[in-house]
Amino acid sequence: MHDLFSTPWANAWEKALNNNNTYRNAAEKWEWPVILEIEDLPAESQELHSQLYLDLWRGECRSVRPALPEDNDSAAYIISAPLNVWRPVLDGHSDPMMALMRGKLKLVKGKMFKLARYSNAAKQMVLSAREVPTRFPGDNQETAVQASTNGTQPAEIITKRESFVTTSGKGLNHNSFPMRLYHKAKRLGIWNPQDINIDQDKKDWQKLTALEKEVILHLTSLFQAGEESVTQDILPLLMVLAREARLEEEIYLTTFLWEEAKHVEFFHRYLSEVITETGDISRFHGPNYRRIFYELLPEAMNALLEDPSPAAQIRASVTYNMIVEGTLAETGYHAYYTMLERNDIMPGMREGITYLKRDESRHIAYGIYLLSRLVNSDPSLWQVLENRMEMMMNYALANINELFDAYPEMPFGLSLEDFVDYATNQFNKRMDRIERAISTPMDKIANELESD
Ligand SMILES: [Fe+2]
Ligand SMILES: [Fe+2]
Repeated sequence: MHDLFSTPWANAWEKALNNNNTYRNAAEKWEWPVILEIEDLPAESQELHSQLYLDLWRGECRSVRPALPEDNDSAAYIISAPLNVWRPVLDGHSDPMMALMRGKLKLVKGKMFKLARYSNAAKQMVLSAREVPTRFPGDNQETAVQASTNGTQPAEIITKRESFVTTSGKGLNHNSFPMRLYHKAKRLGIWNPQDINIDQDKKDWQKLTALEKEVILHLTSLFQAGEESVTQDILPLLMVLAREARLEEEIYLTTFLWEEAKHVEFFHRYLSEVITETGDISRFHGPNYRRIFYELLPEAMNALLEDPSPAAQIRASVTYNMIVEGTLAETGYHAYYTMLERNDIMPGMREGITYLKRDESRHIAYGIYLLSRLVNSDPSLWQVLENRMEMMMNYALANINELFDAYPEMPFGLSLEDFVDYATNQFNKRMDRIERAISTPMDKIANELESD
């Protein structure tokens, strides 16, 4: 057993990393030294170093050693955190990329969007570190991996009706958050994709270069299939809420489904009337996109038909509301809108996207409400939520990279950094909000959501 950040620990980690073939492949393009820093190393830990310097080169770890003052200049990345953050990362309870995105591991030097490309390499580095039996400062026992909760307590399923909400004297709670969203949806969600004027868009389309057209077609193909999948896959969640007799939530979700259907219609109209592309455009769906939209999303949602437990609801809602809507769609809409706005083209598309974003903000608000309600009633479910977030966020980032990798140069001034920064911000805002629900009363959370 070695002390964390001691020289023997560093040597053992270096050896483990060089024996890790998955790391070697994941990091084959990585060429930059990294410094890892413990901010609050206890003064009595004289054998330990507060900074380790990792000389990493194309899948090889050339050395792990205490950092020297001059290393601060040569290291491309400096990652710093207190011990209570490093510990769950190093013992496998917290995903390193997730900790970076949430700002728990602080990126003192270097760019997040570049690191995001190497999430698998980061994970492998941590897995190799876990092979080293480690003693953390201030404790005497070896790191133990605890099984995480799976929270599979099934929700009550109603098979026989005892009463109706609306005739029981209870009535509809118009003040509940879902009902407030429902009323908002009736005011703001009424827009008709067929009424949007796309004449100027047709003219603008003709003036675009072949590469610009290709990138717009690519994005539209991703959105079109994405909207179709969320339209199809929301139904099991509606079923669960109906079975749990959550009438207000079910009433809100009727607008949700209708809006997703209009989003499908909107993109389809654009494809057939502006882009005039009616062939098979699924060639733009790369492996990560396919993993999310062809597999993980329908799997998580349809699992609810067999297993409506709170844990399964969390996995479904994280995948659907937090990742597909909250991270991928929102980031995509934002980038799409920005590039069209910046170049002052396609006013019809911009108008549609303004409506879409407004609809989506209600969908995501509902997702946050649902996840908060579940975590609030059983705080142990937070672990289920975090695990799912970690896994899905890695796919989401890989999916963003996949789009950029397809083009040596992106037109319209699109930047990977913008995409990743925007996605990270959105993601963090939501995680913070849901985490608060562990210890905050639900009515307070609902009020905060309302004012967002
Ligand atoms: Fe949508
Ligand atoms: Fe949506």
